[in-house]
Amino acid sequence: MQGHGRSLKLFLAFALLLLQYAQGGEVDHNQRDTNVTGRCIEKERQALLAFKRGLVDDYNLLSSWSSEAQKQDCCRWIGVYCSNQTGHVIGLDLSYKVIGGDYYLQGKMISPKLIELQHLQHLYLNEINFTGSQFPDFIGSLTNLRYLDLSWAYFGGKFPSQVGNLTNLVYLDLSCNRFTSVENLNWLPLLSSLRYLDLSYANLSNVFDWPEAVNKLPELTNLTLQECDLPSPILSTLSYINSSKSLASVDLSFNHLSTSSIFLWLSNYNTSLVHLDLSFNQLAGSIPDVFGNMSSLAHLDLYSNQLEAILGSLKQ
Ligand SMILES: *[C@@H]1O[C@H](CO)[C@@H](O)[C@H](O)[C@H]1NC(C)=O
Ligand SMILES: *[C@@H]1O[C@H](CO)[C@@H](O)[C@H](O)[C@H]1NC(C)=O
Ligand SMILES: *[C@@H]1O[C@H](CO)[C@@H](O)[C@H](O)[C@H]1NC(C)=O
Ligand SMILES: *[C@@H]1O[C@H](CO)[C@@H](O)[C@H](O)[C@H]1NC(C)=O
Ligand SMILES: *[C@@H]1O[C@H](CO)[C@@H](O)[C@H](O)[C@H]1NC(C)=O
Ligand SMILES: *[C@@H]1O[C@H](CO)[C@@H](O)[C@H](O)[C@H]1NC(C)=O
Ligand SMILES: *[C@@H]1O[C@H](CO)[C@@H](O)[C@H](O)[C@H]1NC(C)=O
Ligand SMILES: *[C@@H]1O[C@H](CO)[C@@H](O)[C@H](O)[C@H]1NC(C)=O
Ligand SMILES: *[C@@H]1O[C@H](CO)[C@@H](O)[C@H](O)[C@H]1NC(C)=O
Repeated sequence: MQGHGRSLKLFLAFALLLLQYAQGGEVDHNQRDTNVTGRCIEKERQALLAFKRGLVDDYNLLSSWSSEAQKQDCCRWIGVYCSNQTGHVIGLDLSYKVIGGDYYLQGKMISPKLIELQHLQHLYLNEINFTGSQFPDFIGSLTNLRYLDLSWAYFGGKFPSQVGNLTNLVYLDLSCNRFTSVENLNWLPLLSSLRYLDLSYANLSNVFDWPEAVNKLPELTNLTLQECDLPSPILSTLSYINSSKSLASVDLSFNHLSTSSIFLWLSNYNTSLVHLDLSFNQLAGSIPDVFGNMSSLAHLDLYSNQLEAILGSLKQ
């Protein structure tokens, strides 16, 4: 017992030493390389101010974002989150739930200075109306991003496939923008850590291999592709799928899915699916057995199709 206690103390002392060493190193690093104002790094503060100049803030929601002396510490600005250890900005959340209420921001452009925020892990610009402007290419260089939400931001122009460079992404929501039709999803399998994907309202009518692209995401649990003009899966490609078994929630509502190949694809997930929405498609004929085999299915929506039988075979 005593020997055990001593080695624990030794271990703790060693751990403390390591910790001090690590923190010392960090402080040194900051003082040498960057200009820290409070916790906030000057270069990043300037980048945020430039970013603010690309927004229209009629309701003064970002009044804390200012150059005034008492507001120097950008880590205290609304929607800005800094690392306690390094002072770098690691999160930017200007979504409705943080700044909202009855008021909103408008977007003119995204300042290229945003790339100075190289340590960003969370970026939420959802529901800022960017009025159809092109989404900037440099998003692909913010490679530390793990959560990216640009939904309802009314970006237009070419679909930003450079998000394929963001290989640390866990969460990607690009739904409800106004991009031109998507050429391919070749970039999607690069996001091998992705757990949540929503591309609703993107035009995927030319992307015939979307089921394969989705299947190459081993961690994906939530997939939402509402109103994407999705083509039905092609049987000959389906038979070669080596699928992930992780999908729990699939929403493919408001498409033109018309063939039973979609059921075959979904049967890949017969042990993991909890929530399935196929409403507002053009599925016809009898309801296939496959649902009866989906052991965890708790929610199934087939509303507004031309399916025949009532769900006699359903367990739930
Ligand atoms: C640090 O930032 C302050 C405020 O912007 C500036 O006046 C000062 O010159 C900077 N110092 C260095 C060493 O860059
Ligand atoms: C960082 O600081 C904030 C505010 O002081 C605190 O809420 C948070 O728990 C800290 N995070 C870590 C990882 O220490
Ligand atoms: C976005 O802003 C433009 C320009 O102000 C406006 O015409 C459009 O209605 C807005 N869209 C939404 C959904 O608020
Ligand atoms: C990804 O990054 C590399 C190098 O940073 C760049 O050359 C390439 O064009 C980027 N690809 C996309 C799709 O953005
Ligand atoms: C989707 O894009 C195709 C062309 O790629 C076009 O024919 C079709 O009308 C578009 N769908 C919608 C809903 O805009
Ligand atoms: C299929 O997946 C297994 C493990 O998940 C892997 O070992 C195998 O190489 C994969 N086969 C193909 C053809 O991708
Ligand atoms: C993902 O899907 C599961 C199962 O339907 C659900 O419980 C969960 O809330 C979803 N996650 C998100 C982030 O929406
Ligand atoms: C359902 O499972 C049973 C046995 O578990 C199997 O014989 C049958 O082929 C399965 N049906 C489908 C559509 O996967
Ligand atoms: C799930 O589907 C696979 C093939 O798609 C099949 O081999 C397996 O029996 C099915 N499991 C259940 C529980 O139906």
